[in-house]
Amino acid sequence: MSSQSVCLNNGISMPILGFGVFLIPEEKTTQAVHNAIACGYRLLDTAAAYNNERCVGAAVTQSGIDRSEFFITTKIWPTQFGYDNTFLAFASSLKKLKTEYIDLYLIHYPVPEDFQKTLETWKAMSKILSEGRVRAIGVCNFNSRNLDILINESGIVPAVNQVELHPFYSQRILRAYHQSHGIITQAWSPLGGVRTYGAFVPDADKKVASIHVNSTLLEIGTKYGKTPSQIVLRWMIQSGISANIKTLNLEHLKANMDVFDFSLSIEDIEQIEKLDTVTQGGIDPQTVTADTFAVSIVD
Ligand SMILES: NC(=O)c1ccc[n+]([C@@H]2O[C@H](COP(=O)([O-])OP(=O)(O)OC[C@H]3O[C@@H](n4cnc5c(N)ncnc54)[C@H](OP(=O)(O)O)[C@@H]3O)[C@@H](O)[C@H]2O)c1
Repeated sequence: MSSQSVCLNNGISMPILGFGVFLIPEEKTTQAVHNAIACGYRLLDTAAAYNNERCVGAAVTQSGIDRSEFFITTKIWPTQFGYDNTFLAFASSLKKLKTEYIDLYLIHYPVPEDFQKTLETWKAMSKILSEGRVRAIGVCNFNSRNLDILINESGIVPAVNQVELHPFYSQRILRAYHQSHGIITQAWSPLGGVRTYGAFVPDADKKVASIHVNSTLLEIGTKYGKTPSQIVLRWMIQSGISANIKTLNLEHLKANMDVFDFSLSIEDIEQIEKLDTVTQGGIDPQTVTADTFAVSIVD
C-alpha cells in the first residue's frame, strides 16, 4: 500500500493522511493506534484535551518502529494558554507521549475574545520550535483574520491550519488563503464525522448528513470501484489537503489508506466541490472561550 506526503513551509515532510484519536476512549486507544500502525499510518493526531496521549505514546513505543518514522501531532488546549504555561503544557505532552520531540504542535482553538493570550502561546511555541523540540508549529480552527493577526504580530507563518473540512463544508476561501501563504490545510472530520456526533447539528440534518449515502459520492465511487469515503479522501489528496481520519473499524482503517491507486477527473472534483453547504457541523471557533468545552486535562 503506497502513501504520500506534503511538504510543510519549513521543508519538513508530513504524511498526507493520518489517524486521529478524538473521542476514542482511553482503554481502546492503544489498540486502535496499533491497528493504524499495522495498516501503514504514520501520522498520528492527538491532543492534550483528548486525554489519550499516553495511549498513543505506548502504541508507538510498543510498535518497535523507529520514532523517526512517525509524525506525531498534539495540541495545546485554551486552558493551558499563556507564555509560561505553554512550556509546562508542552513538557506534559512530551512526557505522556514518551517522546523527546513532537513533530507538529498545534494551538487547538483560538480564543478570539482574548487573542493576546493566544499570541503569547504562539510566542512560546516559536521558542520551542527554535530549540528544536518540535519540528513544526501550527494552529487549528483559525479563520483568515486570526491568521493575519498571528502572522503580522509574530512574523511566523503556521505550517498547518487544521480545520473542519469535508464535502459539505469544504472551506474554499480559507484554502485559497492558506495556499497564498504557504500553509497546509489539514482536515478534521474529513468524512463529516462531526455532522453526526456534533451537538450543534439539528437532528433533521443528521439524517442526511452522512457522506456514505450521498448520491454524488456513490456515483463517482461506482466509476472507480471505491466507496464514498475513499472518494472524499482522494479529493483531498488531489487538492493538497491533509486529513486525519478516525475509525475503530479495521476494514474502514484499511480502506481509508487504499486511495493511492486511482485519480479523480477534474469533472469529479467539480462535482464534489458543489456539495458544499457552507455550514459547519461543529461549534463556530470564533465563539470559543477558555470555558467553552468542559475539558479537564488529566495529568
Ligand atoms: N483540531 C480540532 O479541533 C479537531 C476536532 C475534531 C476532530 N479532530 C481530529 O480529526 C480526527 C477525525 O475527526 P472525526 O472523528 O470528527 O471525523 P471523521 O474521521 O470524519 O469521522 C469519523 C467517523 O467516520 C466513520 N468512518 C471512518 N472511516 C469510515 C469508512 N471508511 N466508512 C464508513 N465510515 C467510516 C467512523 O466510524 P467507524 O469507527 O465505524 O469506522 C467514525 O464514526 C479526530 O480523531 C481528531 O484527530 C480535530
